[in-house]
Amino acid sequence: MGNESINWDKLGFDYIKTDKRFIQTWKNGEWQAGTLTEDNVLHISEGSTALHYGQQCFEGLKAYRCKDGSINLFRPDQNAARMQRSCGRLLMPQVPTEAFIDACKQVVRANERFIPPYGSGGALYLRPFVIGTGDNIGVRTAPEFIFSVFAIPVGAYFKGGLVPHNFQISGYDRAAPHGTGAAKVGGNYAASLLPGSEAKKAGFADSIYLDPATHSKIEEVGSANFFGITRDNKFITPKSPSVLPGITRMSLIELAKTRLGLEVVEGEVFIDQLDIFQEAGACGTAAVISPIGGIEYQGKLHVFYSETEVGPITQKLYKELTGVQSGDVEAPEGWIVKV
Ligand code: PLP
Ligand code: COI
Repeated sequence: MGNESINWDKLGFDYIKTDKRFIQTWKNGEWQAGTLTEDNVLHISEGSTALHYGQQCFEGLKAYRCKDGSINLFRPDQNAARMQRSCGRLLMPQVPTEAFIDACKQVVRANERFIPPYGSGGALYLRPFVIGTGDNIGVRTAPEFIFSVFAIPVGAYFKGGLVPHNFQISGYDRAAPHGTGAAKVGGNYAASLLPGSEAKKAGFADSIYLDPATHSKIEEVGSANFFGITRDNKFITPKSPSVLPGITRMSLIELAKTRLGLEVVEGEVFIDQLDIFQEAGACGTAAVISPIGGIEYQGKLHVFYSETEVGPITQKLYKELTGVQSGDVEAPEGWIVKV
């Protein structure tokens, strides 16, 4: 069955109920057999630690339709590894890499009619998550857990796709210096809701967070990582224990080095030294590469390349990354898993 009801060119980043999701429970100290289900509603104990103490984590990855009709998953082993680290940080049982990738493949196959066509710019976004469930009230790890993966066809995360957006430096922190910033856990995102909404009300795409210890260095761009291209052509991206180690960021570091011949620096991006950059962008699974037009800090807007045009190096990185993901450009070894 096709999917005539979806206008592929108009997809944004919104929930759409697709046909099937994978679900698996952890009980009596082990993972039970998982299954695909049509039911998108979870029935869990009111005492679930996920509801009270934020014991949950999630992932985000995409499946892409290629020119030849085949389907690519982009670096799912890296999402599996990151979810294992998030689970470790919150005392939840880990899902083995092979089981994680297998669940993702099952969900893609079961929702194949929702994969946006090749060339539409969209992809099937997969959302794996683990939550603490079962009867409980004390602040302790849950007696039971659920691992699930669902899928949604998505287009651009920031309106318009590859067009520059302006961002605002937030006065809030999303994570503490030795907290959970490097884990993909819901609490970080709950903390970002108010700053994100204040930034949007003020006309910005999202907020940018500074390092929580000194508030002098850029850490993250909403739900994406920051990168900048210096005037002497270096690719710079912040390195900090409170930044989420993005898989797009990790991939761009390699593509910038090996395909664009840029020098790469993982280091500090001081908010009072933005003049060193000719271009800047946000990168992530949902955000892909979103050029940063300008950043507002202390009432002043610092514009990078342009508020309306995309810089040439950002364009090259975008072409390389999206080409690898959709199979048009040769991928480094191990990056693509066929469904
Ligand atoms: N930083 C945050 C806070 C995120 O939510 C994301 C999105 O997953 C990223 C960075 C980018 O990570 P990735 O490239 O793995 O999607
Ligand atoms: C992703 O890019 O997968 C993210 O997690 C962003 C999201 C929170 C919407």
